[in-house]
Amino acid sequence: EKGGYDYFMLKEIAEQPKAVADTLLGRIGASGALTLDELRIPDAVLREVDKVVIVACGTAFHAGLIAKYAIEHWTRIPCEVELASEFRYRDPILAPRTLVVAISQSGETMDTLMALRHAREQGSTVLAICNTNGSTIPRESDAVLYTHAGPEVAVASTKAFLTQLVACYLVALYLGQVRGTKWGDEVDAVIRELSEISGAVERVLDTMEPVRELARSLADKNTVLFLGRHVGYPVALEGALKLKELAYMHAEGFAAGELKHGPIALIEADVPVVVVVPSPRGRSVLHDKIVSNIQEIRARGARTIVIAEEGDEAVVPYADHLIRIPATPTLLQPLVATVPLQVFACELATARGNEVDQPRNLAKSVTVE
Ligand code: F6R
Repeated sequence: EKGGYDYFMLKEIAEQPKAVADTLLGRIGASGALTLDELRIPDAVLREVDKVVIVACGTAFHAGLIAKYAIEHWTRIPCEVELASEFRYRDPILAPRTLVVAISQSGETMDTLMALRHAREQGSTVLAICNTNGSTIPRESDAVLYTHAGPEVAVASTKAFLTQLVACYLVALYLGQVRGTKWGDEVDAVIRELSEISGAVERVLDTMEPVRELARSLADKNTVLFLGRHVGYPVALEGALKLKELAYMHAEGFAAGELKHGPIALIEADVPVVVVVPSPRGRSVLHDKIVSNIQEIRARGARTIVIAEEGDEAVVPYADHLIRIPATPTLLQPLVATVPLQVFACELATARGNEVDQPRNLAKSVTVE
């Protein structure tokens, strides 16, 4: 049952350190080599892949958006990500050397299923990333990588999302490994950090009380905006989706670089804006740009809620609320940056008197198109 928590969602948020550890279990060896035995796609086929196409819906689609950054950066294979509901209807270019990755927690989402059927008809190889053993999507795919997150009961996806991300990173790294992609210390370090990411997720969970307090103080707001760059952009989209479905508030995620192309007109006094800040190490250009974005919106009255790495001092003067996350390699940051957004949405929903586990109008698996 709920194991002492008021809601399944709270329980599932709390289970995330174990869930991500379970996704990783037995898949990264002591030397950093990956074993995805159950993948069942011959390495020879993976070596020939010349394009990856990810199809998914909702939260799983956001995992796909993040996977694209990792796949392209680590393997240099072009990667497209598409909403499963749009994919089939635009006559997508699919070939035998296209690897289609279908991401689905339930394994029963009709749009995703129809997209993968279409891909297989075109002769592409389909790999499912799925949480539900024996469900339809893995059964109809060429291969499956299970996320092993355990049953997810709350309608809003939390631990399934984090484990989908881990599975996507594993697929990206494995593709690089079988293709002999030359990567240096950077990727070796990522593999090491990924194998220990569970502890970082745990540390985030231990510091969530101020986030809950902040959420309660915003219960009477109408709008919350979310900004991010690079992998922080899909994290912003995910934060907004969680808030819509649970708190029934108007919430939108934007790429921070798009602000001046329109969304900045929405900024007025006291609008809460959550900003996901990339690490100041690594791609520091991105970091500096987002710090100027925070200054811009704050100058226009926004109430800034800043999610930034421990030790990032540059954001401090511009953050009305500062949420700290552990330092991670840039591409892995979504694994820690998403967690406060889940807690934030859950607490806001509770404060607004909403049914957290069963939001209105939504079903856990969408088996109609
Ligand atoms: C949001 C949410 C949905 C699902 C989407 C896909 O919290 O849960 O957006 O992510 O319906 O579901 P699956 O992953 O089962 O295909």
